[in-house]
Amino acid sequence: MRKLIIDCDPGHDDAIAILIAYAHPEEFEILGLTTVCGNQTIDKVGNNALKIVELLDCDIPVIQGEAKPLKRDPEPQPMAHGESGMDGPVMANPTSTYASLSAVNWMRETILKEDKVTLVCLAPLTNIARLLTEYPEVKDRIEEIVLMGGSVYGGNILPKAEFNIYHDPEAAKIVFNSGVPITTTPLEVCKAGAFPLKEIDDFEGKGKISQFVYELLKFYSGYALRHNMDRTPIFDMTTIIYLLHPEYFKGRKMDVDIELDGQYTRGMTVCEEIGEYSSIDNPVNVLLDVDNEFHNRVFKEAIVALDKKGNKK
Ligand code: RIB
Ligand code: CA
Repeated sequence: MRKLIIDCDPGHDDAIAILIAYAHPEEFEILGLTTVCGNQTIDKVGNNALKIVELLDCDIPVIQGEAKPLKRDPEPQPMAHGESGMDGPVMANPTSTYASLSAVNWMRETILKEDKVTLVCLAPLTNIARLLTEYPEVKDRIEEIVLMGGSVYGGNILPKAEFNIYHDPEAAKIVFNSGVPITTTPLEVCKAGAFPLKEIDDFEGKGKISQFVYELLKFYSGYALRHNMDRTPIFDMTTIIYLLHPEYFKGRKMDVDIELDGQYTRGMTVCEEIGEYSSIDNPVNVLLDVDNEFHNRVFKEAIVALDKKGNKK
């Protein structure tokens, strides 16, 4: 059983990652959802996180985090996630409220109560960088950071940069140089696990959670359709599927550092293969490939399980 803190910016793919994690109570105890500005403003992503928790009818706390990157201005992404940050599903405004502490202070308090916690990071790393800088005493109790971010070869916000790293490169540099064990699911492995567009309609009308996923993906797949793709990466969910089934993934240990500036390279994850002469003291587990059919079967089965669970209530 892993105890998870999920740091997120819902975000269509964040939402699906949270659903898959919640569908596996035998594997995960979700201690809380901490939010951070990224896909949309802190208030919008927080509102979306509250909506997800209310949809699941669960008591997972939602804790608001940083409203802006360490040194940069926020750059919301309405093209990918809409003005609300989670366009598509029509949902009532949440009635629940945030935990009273800030995300950084809540994470410190929560981690120090546990032996080991896994940080699942689905967004820019602003909260995590502040936590590790201001409260380094938590490092020994972090079993692993599993983060969606970066790329070995390409980019999605710049030719050589992925959005989560690009949005707060200073934060990412702090996290990747923190000495905490890190596994990344960069663009490459998320694309290997991309979901077939032709299967989106299979979710329609199959239950409350399935319908939510259908409405999420009908909006979110717009980018893939506009680019004549027949699949859409659901980036963040790959972190959870890795934690459930690491044996279905291929990856390599690499030295990873972050480019802070550059017209084409701000936020680039500079990935160096570990050679016999490398003097890397904290190599990152960089995931590069996954069995596509298995990856998406885990996703689909989790949604079916949540609808069955909901039907029993
Ligand atoms: O580049 C993909 C990442 O950026 C995902 O986490 C998505 O939610 C956005 O935050
Ligand atoms: Ca995200």
